[in-house]
Amino acid sequence: MTAELIDGRGIAGKVRDEVRSGVEELKRKTGVVPKLAVVMVGNDPASDVYVKTKEKAAKSVGIETRTVRLGADVSEKEVISLLDCLNDDESIHGVLVQLPLPEHVDPLRVASAVDPMKDVDGLHPDNVGLLLIGAPRFVPCTPAGIQRMLVESGVTTEGKHVVICGRSMIVGRPLAALMMQKHAAANATVTVAHTGTKHLADVTRRADILVAAIDQPEGIKAEMVKPGAVAIDVGVHRLEDGSRKKGYRLVGDVDFEEVKGKASVISPVPGGVGPMTVAMLLVNTLKAATMAVRPDEYIDREPVDIQLLSVG
Ligand code: GUN
Repeated sequence: MTAELIDGRGIAGKVRDEVRSGVEELKRKTGVVPKLAVVMVGNDPASDVYVKTKEKAAKSVGIETRTVRLGADVSEKEVISLLDCLNDDESIHGVLVQLPLPEHVDPLRVASAVDPMKDVDGLHPDNVGLLLIGAPRFVPCTPAGIQRMLVESGVTTEGKHVVICGRSMIVGRPLAALMMQKHAAANATVTVAHTGTKHLADVTRRADILVAAIDQPEGIKAEMVKPGAVAIDVGVHRLEDGSRKKGYRLVGDVDFEEVKGKASVISPVPGGVGPMTVAMLLVNTLKAATMAVRPDEYIDREPVDIQLLSVG
């Protein structure tokens, strides 16, 4: 068996087209142009690439951006003061702090300092809580992107066993909350495996849909996958490779060459979850701007329908 590939780039392009139309409509009806503020602390090269990708994607759909770069030695208090300014600035609708942060800056305190109505990363405790109780406002971008890519690929989740490897605040935990929602695009039985899990392969082999967010290059091997399962790869790692022009190749948390022979559907790295994460940031930014200027738009809708506007 060779698994069918999920085209994350293609699906992300479709999402961007929808956002572009939404941005144009909002501008036509209200004169407001959505604006996203991105805060980067320190000079992590991977974060720098992600931030530039987000700026470019925003521009491509008509969303304005303001990026603020702070030195690695900036204090937590200074980061929070900056967030206070961005929260107070009415021209800014979405605020995102790129992770990871330097050791001395507490990500929870930073997430809590973002105005929850501008929290396009969905990491403020209010938004985490709303997702958990089944009334999501902003769903974190990677889980939202995974859900959308499954829907678009015709992979149903209802009644399936979704095993998520990884319990991070940004992927594993919110994805578990999302996949257990009572909604057609979720309604799964969810298991979260983590570093405390014993006999990991026994757990992962029970997955109909296996999500790898373990931060270990090619850590998920074919023997850990049930034949015909769906494999979603959240990891991105650079592996040295002298045969490549750049001197490296990108791999995920799944051993793609092995697992593609066992799974029925697989998301590649690059070109899988990554572009979806960026596209869902644009969805959340448009939503933040719309909620700021047209709050009535959202009153009568089921919360999850807001997230899946085009799914029907
Ligand atoms: N670092 C890696 N992925 C993400 C993301 O989705 N949001 C933020 N803020 N930082 C990240």
